[in-house]
Amino acid sequence: MATAPKRAPAPWLPLLFLFLLPGGSCGGCPAVCDCTSQPRAVLCAHRRLETVPGGLPLDTELLDLSGNHLWGLQQGMLSRLGLLKELDLSYNQLSILEPGAFHGLQSLLTLRLQGNRLRIMGPGVFSGLSALKLLDLRLNQIVLFLDRAFGELGSLQQLEVGDNHLVFVAPGAFAGLAKLSALTLERCNLSTVPGLALARLPALLTLRLRELDIGRLPAGALRGLGQLKELEIHHWPCLEALEPGSLLGLNLSSLAITRCNLSAVPFQALHHLSFLRVLDLSQNPISAIPARRLSALVRLQELRLSGACLTSIAAHAFHGLTAFHLLDVADNALQTLEETAFPSPDKLVTLRLSGNPLTCDCRLLWLLRLRRRLDFGTSPPACAGPQHVQGKSLQDFSDILPPGHFTCQPALIRKSGPRWVIAEEGGHAVFSCSGDGDPAPTVSWMRPQGAWLGRAGRVRVLEDGTLEIRSVQLQDRGAYVCMVSNVAGNDSLRTWLEVIQVDPPNGTLSGSNITMPGIPGPFFLDSRGVAMVLAVGFLPFLTSVTLCFGLIALWSKGKGRVKHHMTFDFVAPRPSGDKNSGGNRVTAKLF
Ligand SMILES: *[C@@H]1O[C@H](CO)[C@@H](O)[C@H](O)[C@H]1NC(C)=O
Ligand SMILES: *[C@@H]1O[C@H](CO)[C@@H](O)[C@H](O)[C@H]1NC(C)=O
Ligand SMILES: *[C@@H]1O[C@H](CO)[C@@H](O)[C@H](O)[C@H]1NC(C)=O
Ligand SMILES: *[C@@H]1O[C@H](CO)[C@@H](O)[C@H](O)[C@H]1NC(C)=O
Ligand SMILES: *[C@@H]1O[C@H](CO)[C@@H](O)[C@H](O)[C@H]1NC(C)=O
Ligand SMILES: *[C@@H]1O[C@H](CO)[C@@H](O)[C@H](O)[C@H]1NC(C)=O
Repeated sequence: MATAPKRAPAPWLPLLFLFLLPGGSCGGCPAVCDCTSQPRAVLCAHRRLETVPGGLPLDTELLDLSGNHLWGLQQGMLSRLGLLKELDLSYNQLSILEPGAFHGLQSLLTLRLQGNRLRIMGPGVFSGLSALKLLDLRLNQIVLFLDRAFGELGSLQQLEVGDNHLVFVAPGAFAGLAKLSALTLERCNLSTVPGLALARLPALLTLRLRELDIGRLPAGALRGLGQLKELEIHHWPCLEALEPGSLLGLNLSSLAITRCNLSAVPFQALHHLSFLRVLDLSQNPISAIPARRLSALVRLQELRLSGACLTSIAAHAFHGLTAFHLLDVADNALQTLEETAFPSPDKLVTLRLSGNPLTCDCRLLWLLRLRRRLDFGTSPPACAGPQHVQGKSLQDFSDILPPGHFTCQPALIRKSGPRWVIAEEGGHAVFSCSGDGDPAPTVSWMRPQGAWLGRAGRVRVLEDGTLEIRSVQLQDRGAYVCMVSNVAGNDSLRTWLEVIQVDPPNGTLSGSNITMPGIPGPFFLDSRGVAMVLAVGFLPFLTSVTLCFGLIALWSKGKGRVKHHMTFDFVAPRPSGDKNSGGNRVTAKLF
């Protein structure tokens, strides 16, 4: 076979081959191979072959040459096997595939080339394989897919290219793969998703992108895959978030983004996937499923989020999901799962909840009620507390519960700070409030106008339930209601904030801008600053600032140039009641 020609074949060459091949007749069997165990199969695996043996029967349908020492495949080498359906060349030492190497194999359906030393897939290598359905190129050293590398494979349905050194996929690499329905790109050195190349796959239904070192899926990266039904992104350790537009153009029915580094459910990116039925976000550091954010996924049936860091699933988390029937949140940090999370708990069929530190109190009574009907998978959920039921599986409770089992204590306000607080305008006010109950109650605060307060802003509720008001303003005056609540009940308490107004002198103050006579431009002071100016008296402040300005004017004149702006620090005696300011410093900018 070392005599095989390397250039384009002359028409008589196949004939020459016929004579060159030792024993090249139909019906024969190369001595090293096994042709008897299967009809029309020639099995030559692990025979230490360095070339394709001669004398292959012309009606061979399966040729197994795996695990040999084949190092190259030249043009026309197999061209007589026009009936061959499956060719296994895996685990050889092939590094060169010449263009036309598979010429004449027009019936070939399966070609296995995994575990070789292939480096570059250029155009024309696979020409002639017009019937090929499966091509396996895994475990090679392919670095590049050039344009039209697979151009002749119009029937190919499945292409395996994992475990290569792939760094570049040319935009036209997949052109011509009109029927490819499944593609797996795994363990490659790709640093971006080859979106342009993928967009040339009009029939792609399943795309798996696994174990890649890619940190980002840019907006529209997969646009052009409108037929795609199933997308799997697995083990991208650097993927910390999904951009809102990253799944645009897709109409998926199944999406898995597993073992990545997502810290939240990417609601915005998922929003348009109204045909999505299965969502798997397992093994991401996601800590919460908030309320009502999944409702756009109207057809969602299954959510898998096992092995994450879930500590809470909000009430109404699955609001709007009328077909929802499977939730897998095994191996998380959930202490409870309330019935109100589900639009209709009776429709739930499968609930994987094992491996969570569940507190068996009144919040889990609903689960106890449904425990015989629900499919809990291999291990049913067990109680991690309270102590008297610790370790007991939900399935082990009888229908009549002993007293003290699965109960809660309503929340009660234990202690609170003063009920009446007086603060100066610009000052700082704090109300404390905390409660007892089982489960531990949450503390919330309501403004005098009736709105609940959040964790951010000038008026906010701190982590421990304390209400904090910074830079008190006149309109903050009024009754604030502290409410402690848990699933078993709530308790509330009213407190009052009185604000002392500090009168501005007439005519010199407009809002928080001070206009100074004789000095161009306004001063900018925040409201606390204004309070401090007032505390030392406006006139001394004005005098000292004017004086300083005068000095600076003189100084700049002396230097022959004018500085365009200047910052003053005006330190005043500390007004009483303001505990949080470091010094009483007023900063003014002069233009
Ligand atoms: C691909 O990545 C592997 C492991 O990180 C490395 O050993 C190899 O050299 C890389 N190949 C290329 C072509 O960058
Ligand atoms: C995962 O994300 C966190 C921050 O969200 C970051 O500190 C960590 O390094 C990331 N892990 C990896 C493997 O990139
Ligand atoms: C999305 O896919 C569903 C099938 O999963 C199909 O019925 C629907 O027509 C598709 N929508 C669009 C806009 O292609
Ligand atoms: C507090 O409890 C009362 C009944 O005790 C109930 O009507 C009310 O809705 C509860 N309020 C909140 C905010 O939970
Ligand atoms: C300040 O203005 C009010 C009216 O706006 C007036 O009644 C009051 O007398 C003025 N005070 C001084 C000190 O000028
Ligand atoms: C203060 O002055 C700035 C700049 O001239 C202006 O934009 C702002 O509206 C003023 N604020 C008040 C309360 O007058």
